[in-house]
Amino acid sequence: MLCNVCENLNNSICFNAESIGITYCTLTNATNGLGWPKIPNNVFVNNVIDWDKFFEERKKEIENIKNSTPRKECENCQQITRQEYTENNKIKYILLSQWQVCNSDCVYCLGHIPPLDKTSQNYDEQYKKFVEPYDIIAILKDMISKDILDKNAKIDFAGGEPTLYPRFDELINFLLDNNFNNIIIHTNNIQYSKAIENGIKKNAISLMISIDAGSKKCHRIVKRVDSFNNVWHNFKKYTKSKTKDYSGKLCTKYVIVPDVNDSEKEISEFIKQSKKHGATHVALNVYNQLLNNMNYEVNLLNHLYNLSEFFIKEAEKQKLNHILFPNISYVYTKLSKN
Ligand SMILES: C[S@@+](CC[C@H](N)C(=O)[O-])C[C@H]1O[C@@H](n2cnc3c(N)ncnc32)[C@H](O)[C@@H]1O
Ligand code: SF4
Ligand code: SF4
Repeated sequence: MLCNVCENLNNSICFNAESIGITYCTLTNATNGLGWPKIPNNVFVNNVIDWDKFFEERKKEIENIKNSTPRKECENCQQITRQEYTENNKIKYILLSQWQVCNSDCVYCLGHIPPLDKTSQNYDEQYKKFVEPYDIIAILKDMISKDILDKNAKIDFAGGEPTLYPRFDELINFLLDNNFNNIIIHTNNIQYSKAIENGIKKNAISLMISIDAGSKKCHRIVKRVDSFNNVWHNFKKYTKSKTKDYSGKLCTKYVIVPDVNDSEKEISEFIKQSKKHGATHVALNVYNQLLNNMNYEVNLLNHLYNLSEFFIKEAEKQKLNHILFPNISYVYTKLSKN
């Protein structure tokens, strides 16, 4: 029977930093700027999720959406669609985003802090707050032992910078040993990881690398650290490690920030560099704050539309697959129709 539901709610769990906690979904509701619906406190106690309670509470949220009485965060959310719905007590998508430290300082990013100083007096407290608010490996083990995690689950790493999580390689190797082969890692690629290389060899890991520039100079302006050559060097090592059966994505990514990197020259150079270093895909977005502010000024929209069109043409010229992320895709489709 057709009903109004949200697929995210039915499939996902998102592990965020202490300030946000564990949520049912990671999306902002574009109609009211809310989102991140949190799981109730009594579901997660002493590093253990009570899965019976989790599914019971989630069911209530879904019933409320079906009855058109969703919680405020979900009201009128575009992710609610009318569809055939099967109740599902499995998790098919996990976002891991509980670390906030990062070795880059991108002009557009709000969710990061500089690496911690191990000699500082409050290091342990800071570590608990910004690096490891709970033991994620223990939680994943629990999910696997209780058969809650779908075998084909998509496991998505964000953050902060995932490769700075001290147990990152342990976490990746744990997932690989348990045959999860749909792992996506968002990284700035400053730090090389043997575990990622291993995962690419096993056709289990896709990479989304935030580069955001085509030249060293512009990269320095966006990322606010000198890492351009290092990032491409690491990327080349990863792309070389894929076998001929590799079916994942080795994707470089560009977030447009007006007046910083919004030129055809930078985009064209970014695509050439991506090709040269072995990318399979290139992705484009525009920074969230711009559209969250609903600042749809017409000249800006036209400019973004032209850059998207240019990006697609350049990617096609280089025979690279191209992806438009939701914000830029929204602009592109909005203007394509006119
Ligand atoms: C928060 S980062 C964390 C992972 C990693 N540090 C990285 O840069 O890929 C995850 C992704 O979000 C993107 N991102 C961060 N802030 C953004 C913003 N304000 N608007 C659009 N994308 C953003 C980054 O470009 C990156 O691709
Ligand atoms: S309705 Fe929207 S805000 Fe609510 S869980 Fe679904 S995607 Fe998240
Ligand atoms: S590298 Fe990622 S987490 Fe770090 S500042 Fe940039 S977007 Fe944010």
